[in-house]
Amino acid sequence: MDTVKILGIAGSLREGSYNRATLRAARELLPANVQLESFERLGEIPPFNEDEEGTLPDAVAQLKQQIREADAILFVTPEYNYSIPGVLKNAIDWASRPYGENAWDGKPVAIMGASISALGTARAQYHLRQAFVFLNMHPVNGPEVMIPSAYERFDDQGNLTDNTSRDLIRQQLESLVEWTNQLKAGSRVLVN
Ligand SMILES: Cc1cc2nc3c(=O)[nH]c(=O)nc-3n(C[C@H](O)[C@H](O)[C@H](O)COP(=O)(O)O)c2cc1C
Repeated sequence: MDTVKILGIAGSLREGSYNRATLRAARELLPANVQLESFERLGEIPPFNEDEEGTLPDAVAQLKQQIREADAILFVTPEYNYSIPGVLKNAIDWASRPYGENAWDGKPVAIMGASISALGTARAQYHLRQAFVFLNMHPVNGPEVMIPSAYERFDDQGNLTDNTSRDLIRQQLESLVEWTNQLKAGSRVLVN
């Protein structure tokens, strides 16, 4: 079986971010034959301006390159005001442009998220799924990874200590890999 390459993108710039910590936990819970890279330059992406999309900023060019090299995408998103953080949506918009050069096109994708509230980013995750329709991304439907009351589930060093969340992450990564292989076998996605 070929190695599956996943690109992980955490939608928070915060040093002690629960979502960045969740992406680190995912790295510990990968199935065999899977590589997980992350995009680390979210904070360098300028506000999207359609007048400037002809010359991509360096961080956007790198993001698009990393997306194209990945077999699948993993978003790990906070929830801000019941939706996706602006920095993440901004990066998604950049990488979908210019028209006809949507780097997300056809990619299998999974979503995880951690929040301090009881719903664990559910509303933000469903907003992301809506964007996937126009981006032509193929989301894994389950299991959903929504980590509520995050302050109870990570230790002071940012390690995810909650076994239920760790199990869900492990299962979702397995589903993403299976989904990616199914889509590849059926030639329904444009990967690499
Ligand atoms: C602008 C803003 C809006 C927020 N809105 C929500 C929200 O709608 N739902 C929620 O569960 N948490 C909300 N929160 C709290 C986040 O869950 C919390 O800040 C979380 O730690 C953010 O993720 P991070 O730790 O990865 O940075 C909000 C936080 C900020 C800064």
